[in-house]
Amino acid sequence: MNCDPSELRLYFNEFPRPPPANVIKAAREALRDANRYPEDKLVEELKSLMSSYAGLKPENVHATSGGEYAFYELFTRLVRPGDSAILLEPTFTSYEPILKVLGVKVHKLRLEENGYRWILDKDKLFSLMRTEKPRLLVIDDPNNPTASPMLADEDLVREVCSSFGGYLLLDEAYTEYAGYSASKLVPEIGNLVVFRTMSKAFALAGMRVSILLATKQLIESIEGFSPRFELSRPSLAAAVEALSDPSYAFRNADFIKSERERVRRALKSMNGLKAYESFTNYILMRFNYPQLIDSLKIRLMRPAFDNQYARLSIGSKLENNCAVSALRDSLNSGE
Ligand SMILES: Cc1ncc(COP(=O)(O)O)c(C=O)c1O
Repeated sequence: MNCDPSELRLYFNEFPRPPPANVIKAAREALRDANRYPEDKLVEELKSLMSSYAGLKPENVHATSGGEYAFYELFTRLVRPGDSAILLEPTFTSYEPILKVLGVKVHKLRLEENGYRWILDKDKLFSLMRTEKPRLLVIDDPNNPTASPMLADEDLVREVCSSFGGYLLLDEAYTEYAGYSASKLVPEIGNLVVFRTMSKAFALAGMRVSILLATKQLIESIEGFSPRFELSRPSLAAAVEALSDPSYAFRNADFIKSERERVRRALKSMNGLKAYESFTNYILMRFNYPQLIDSLKIRLMRPAFDNQYARLSIGSKLENNCAVSALRDSLNSGE
């Protein structure tokens, strides 16, 4: 097979194909009104569709642009300078800089390797929560970059939330791949916030549409301060069209899951690397010789926590084949 691994874009955890034609058409048609600010009723429509998708009421939903902005909006409502927050290590890299800018003291709970998964030690979490009394605990579930499930259990989410006076942000960016979500608990648990995005299985990363799910009171507090026109007309139109029939996101997720398992089998047959189990659209790998990662033709995401690791996103069949053969060639020639 002819392929150029240096052309592969398997480091942002994007979906490899564009969204369906009806979604693209809706976004394109919205450009005809590009001279007009978006109407509130478009936002209301999006919130209503998002709430049915998440099994909640529109009052529990804040529709916003990408994750970084959503986290900024949320954190500014929840924390004050000098507060403490607990993050996992490793975790998605966007939370910490925002918390630092807001003057929050960040404490880290290191995940532990357990076979082909990474786990969060609950006793250590509860003990850190007792000593640090955080205003905020952020858990990406599944975790980025390990792709492992973290709490993944409603009773555990309840237990964590009831054990402290702060807020738990569960980042469920990969929920369509993982097949679990705690979002239904949002109305009953006052200190739980769930983040979702349309960037992954909905194939809309370029449109920047994401969702915060929380109690009515917290949503009102966020919306009281959020910009009036947060999402552009094309983004709103694409998201509304996508959520009018979200079934394509699950077909996308099924495709990625089957490719992910195929890629993982191929990776596991290679000497010199370990490929972890994944509940997402990427696979974390550990290389016996970290210097090999720098010499690869394919660009991978290098998590900051340890130089032995690299993350590979799952792409189209052709892209995955190209990535696998590039890795195999490098490992063979590196030995
Ligand atoms: C855990 C996690 N949260 C949030 C995001 C970002 O989502 P968005 O595209 O909505 O900014 C990502 C993207 O890779 C992610 O891995």
